[in-house]
Amino acid sequence: MCGIVGYWGSKDPKQVIVDGLKRLEYRGYDSAGIAVLDQVQGQPKFRVVRAQGKLMELSRKLEQEKFSGQIGIGHTRWATHGVPSERNAHPHSIGGVTLVHNGIIENYQEIRQELAAQGSQFLSDTDSELVAHLLSHEVKQTGDLHAAVLKVWPRLIGAYAIVAVWEQQPDVMVAFKNGPPLVLGVGDGEIVVASDVQAIISTTKRVVYLNDNEVVKVKGANYEITDHQGRKLKKDIVTIDWSADLVEKAGFNHFMLKEIHEQPRAVANAMAPHVDLENQSVRLTGLGFSAQSFDEISKLDSKVDQALSFEKLKNIDRIFIIACGTSHYAGLAGKYLIEQIARIPVEVDIASEFRYREPFIPPRSLVLVISQSGETADTLAALRLAKQAGALTLSICNVRASSIDREAHGHLYMNSGPEIGVASTKAFVSTLAVLNLFALQLGKLRSQLDRDRERRFLDALLGTPAQMEAVLAYDSFFAEAAATLKAYRGILFMGRGINYPIALEGALKLKELAYMHAEGYAAGEMKHGPLALIDERMLIVMVCPSDKNYEKTLSNLEEAKARGGKIISIGTGDNSQLKNVSDHYLSLPKAEWTVNPILEAIPVQLLAYHVANALGHDVDQPRNLAKSVTVE
Ligand code: G6P
Repeated sequence: MCGIVGYWGSKDPKQVIVDGLKRLEYRGYDSAGIAVLDQVQGQPKFRVVRAQGKLMELSRKLEQEKFSGQIGIGHTRWATHGVPSERNAHPHSIGGVTLVHNGIIENYQEIRQELAAQGSQFLSDTDSELVAHLLSHEVKQTGDLHAAVLKVWPRLIGAYAIVAVWEQQPDVMVAFKNGPPLVLGVGDGEIVVASDVQAIISTTKRVVYLNDNEVVKVKGANYEITDHQGRKLKKDIVTIDWSADLVEKAGFNHFMLKEIHEQPRAVANAMAPHVDLENQSVRLTGLGFSAQSFDEISKLDSKVDQALSFEKLKNIDRIFIIACGTSHYAGLAGKYLIEQIARIPVEVDIASEFRYREPFIPPRSLVLVISQSGETADTLAALRLAKQAGALTLSICNVRASSIDREAHGHLYMNSGPEIGVASTKAFVSTLAVLNLFALQLGKLRSQLDRDRERRFLDALLGTPAQMEAVLAYDSFFAEAAATLKAYRGILFMGRGINYPIALEGALKLKELAYMHAEGYAAGEMKHGPLALIDERMLIVMVCPSDKNYEKTLSNLEEAKARGGKIISIGTGDNSQLKNVSDHYLSLPKAEWTVNPILEAIPVQLLAYHVANALGHDVDQPRNLAKSVTVE
């Protein structure tokens, strides 16, 4: 986690770096700092300013600061080694070398002992400072920061993206990575290096994505990329299509609320590339190549060695869906869709469990990894493991050219646009839309889906953006109800079938934003435990649309009511049964079971958003969390 930015150019580096850090604050926000070149007693020095707490604290400290140089680096931190404090905040400066680091140096104890034995004094408790020590020793021998980085490289075990500067080469910045992301922005006479394109787009849209074991040496407005052994590399510049306005709040109080309201558009964008409107049919594109027809696909398949083809998809025997957090719950809904529509067994796993449980991945398996950021460390590791085991892999990511997107054989995209709120919202519903399409495509390939059902399910999906607009009207209901809802001892979210993942997602959202106790349960499990929790201080949110499980879920609701629980039910249309048994009934538009979760996601997100707000929490940056979890 942590966000890093480096800048060389004619603008005020302090301003560019702080603006960049603002865009990266979702990656960590317990302390922040910058180092910008200045003249101190006539000598070039990187002057460091750091502050504990959110970026605002640093900005306050920087108000009166002026720096004379054209180059600087900055960091927003999510603590791993060493508590959040000014002393542990980055940048770290040792012997004229100053750096910022995202990741974890795993052999940090060993390096620290070795440095201590040589008499080094430590100024912080971080693993990052140790890299500054190593570089400052090495640069004395090499006289060049890039050469020093190559020398230090073999000493570092773990995950790192680092940007370093050295006062003896004041126009040079060296950035290198193994694990966490690093992107180079190539502007007109200016260069930005950052953890994410969001911190770059207001300077330039021309970027180079660095791969692991690559180093970029920026010298003034020029740059050179090598591998970690110093061999020169030629890399393409990619032009990105995200605009800078997408990373602003556009009049909303929080990014999360803006992103909740962007969901209808996000779902429409997720579907757009894969729907043949004229023939009312699904045609997944971009699975590693573009192809229009089966004939073209089979031709391509022989040429594109690793590309995932429809032919290969058709012949798989099993699917594993792997993800973390909200993406995992989207994956769980995917299981219901794929098994029921395409009749193929699906296992869903949390990435951190999958990677360490020695999973048995039979031949002809497809491993589908889902990740908004495309950088989640456990999901990336699970993907690599699946590839080693010989599985075909397919990713659903939002961030293009992220590590997971680059490494999977096939690619589908959420197309949600930048998601800044730490709690994922629009990426979740976009993923549900993509999983709908994937299930339909697979159903067709495996002859499990006739034209009528395909049209029916596709129609339902195409109708969701308009239906979602209507559901967003519950924003004002939750804004008003939040003051009452926040007083409950806890909230129990329940649902059955494909609605069960929404119960899990509702509980997760409440925990992460409102810090309230919440449980997500399959309604059929209620008698096996959660019923004991229910009394008048417990709120039950029952996701109960008119689908094949409706009657059974309604009985569960009656049972909860009989134990004194307060009830919010979410159902279909004007349902008097649900109204009678509930304290509040939220009516959703009538839809197919396949898309109900897309509609249901909105009220549970709004509930968590408004309750957290009413409790005075920072909704976009909940305590202890970060959006992109690039460490284990
Ligand atoms: C973090 C975020 C969640 C997100 C999860 C998985 O926990 O706070 O919002 O769902 O990571 O992230 P990914 O980028 O892999 O979807």
